[in-house]
Amino acid sequence: MLATVLALSLSAHNHELTIDMKRNGAPVQKTMYGLFIEDVNFAADGGLYAELIKNRSFDFPYPFTGWQFAGNVEVRNDGPFDRNPNYVRLHASDHPHKWTAIVNEGFFGIGIERDKEYRFTFYARVPEGKDSACVCMQLAERSTNRFRQDFISQEISISGSEWKQYEVVVKSPMTASRAQLRIFLVGENAVDLEHISLFPVDTWKGRKGGLRKDLMEALADMKPGCFRFPGGCIVEGTDLDTRYNWKNTLGPVENRPLNENRWHYTFQTRFYPDYFQTYGLGFYEYFLLSEDIGAEPLPVVNVGLSCQYQNKEEHNYVPVDDLDSYIQDAIDLIEFANGDTTTVYGKIRAQMGHPEPFNLKFIAIGNEQWGDEYVVRLEKFVERLRRVHPEIGIIGSSGPSSEGPKFDHLWPEMKRIKVDLVDEHFYRPESWFLGQGNRYDSYDRKGPKVFVGEYACHGKGRKWNHFNASLLEAAFMTNLERNADIVHMATYAPLFAHVEGWNWRPDLIWYDNLRSVRTCSYYVQQMYAHNPGTHVLKATENEKPLAGNEGQDGLFASAVWDADRQQVIIKIVNVSDVAQDVKLTFTGLKKNQNPELVDITTYSSDNLYTDNTLACPTAILPKVKKAEGTSLDKAAVPAKTFVMYRFKVPGRK
Ligand code: AHR
Repeated sequence: MLATVLALSLSAHNHELTIDMKRNGAPVQKTMYGLFIEDVNFAADGGLYAELIKNRSFDFPYPFTGWQFAGNVEVRNDGPFDRNPNYVRLHASDHPHKWTAIVNEGFFGIGIERDKEYRFTFYARVPEGKDSACVCMQLAERSTNRFRQDFISQEISISGSEWKQYEVVVKSPMTASRAQLRIFLVGENAVDLEHISLFPVDTWKGRKGGLRKDLMEALADMKPGCFRFPGGCIVEGTDLDTRYNWKNTLGPVENRPLNENRWHYTFQTRFYPDYFQTYGLGFYEYFLLSEDIGAEPLPVVNVGLSCQYQNKEEHNYVPVDDLDSYIQDAIDLIEFANGDTTTVYGKIRAQMGHPEPFNLKFIAIGNEQWGDEYVVRLEKFVERLRRVHPEIGIIGSSGPSSEGPKFDHLWPEMKRIKVDLVDEHFYRPESWFLGQGNRYDSYDRKGPKVFVGEYACHGKGRKWNHFNASLLEAAFMTNLERNADIVHMATYAPLFAHVEGWNWRPDLIWYDNLRSVRTCSYYVQQMYAHNPGTHVLKATENEKPLAGNEGQDGLFASAVWDADRQQVIIKIVNVSDVAQDVKLTFTGLKKNQNPELVDITTYSSDNLYTDNTLACPTAILPKVKKAEGTSLDKAAVPAKTFVMYRFKVPGRK
């Protein structure tokens, strides 16, 4: 057999990784590497939810947010949708040279692609006793030129005094990244307009009013094991009134009430007073999305606390004795997901298009809560949920920090309350990630399992996406993998960010109105998610895991067995500045079971502090080198590199 020789560096240290193949270790959960979405950074409205019109039903507190108008436009509030009552009446101007029109700016402009079709819909009626009216819909490029030239223009006749929905599909002759939608009143007769919407026809799975295709493809390409939604802090709200209310996300989108987004305010430096949630991407859509991408749905519900960072006052929390409606929300959510079609919420799910249950298995109670105020409320939920739905796994929180007083208080409480999983969150610098190679090795195996629900390496002074941060995440993840008996799920955060509307970075996937880019962290997550294996294998040097400890020269490693592919998968991360030689020794194999190399995936970057960009989205990609049938005794792991080796071991179970 051929020995594969990889480049050697003179200064390389010699190490040995012994992979014990005698028996399989703990099973790796199918949920292990997942995704988490929150509507932060214009992730849902203005992002994944493909609606191109901002404030489509004029129900923002200032009804013309996102709109400009000319001529005679009146806002009225007795529209056809009781929870979004506003609409506009366009009257003819009384001056022969003035016209009446409204113009929508979209989210940072409207992105339109050449030769693609767009579905323009709106509700309209003819008021004031007239039979008919007419509007002209235009798409115009909003450029720095003097002219805002329309490139699509179409007249639409309106008839009758009853509200009706109108639909026009247009094909664009050009690409425009910052177009605007204009609607002119044509003729003398007034018209009422409501819920003015524009979507690409080519959405994910071609669904009407659906999700942006390139972003969904990025999620599906991850092959995630679980999908946590809808947040994050938006579950809590800036106050209880603005908490995420999943029940408001049900039914026709026209009547889902608007909610102020908590990320509207969070940082003064990143203030978006026009950031609201239409709930067009609501719980039904999130369950469907999870099903589409084969991920276990993990909904989070409010525990009766608004954001604890922003509300230190008890009066912004629900009194412990008044939690009934909040607990009922959790119970109804389980019915919505799993109940048969004769139940109240199961019926709503069926009416929305999914008679089959979504097969919900877990529910998270509270996001990133802490203190006794959380514990007493959580207990109430757990007590009731265990009685009514003992089959549903409950996820509790360990607070906002990776360690410290809040964390130390909550973990024992979570054990006492007997939640099934504890959600840990950490956004920490490089030094923290480097020092966490053994984090889960010593966790109590008898308590709840771990869900690493939000994490990312935030470079010190370099709090943006770059390769080095992703390398340290890869190193840290060897520890998750090695401890798959206790770590059952992990989801990087946040997921999405619009380049012109971000609140928080780094993020996994960035986009503008037309393009998107998968970051280095995305590819690290994907390497794990595509190669989770089915069982942990013991992989050690001198009986100790390679976890970046003293004497280990910046090496981190883990190994898994994939029973379906009959492969052993070894992940090694070298965070040091020098290449390392790692002798791979397999023990416990039968005579005829020689591991044969299948391929080597190498992930590195010439510049540690750059990432893929919208202009150059494939600059830094993992490179797979096929090596079918060869053997490899010594892995030469280059400096600052993540390498994954896959070996076939015929005959092993
Ligand atoms: O991911 C961004 C925020 O970080 C989440 O909303 C919150 O849970 C955490 O503090």
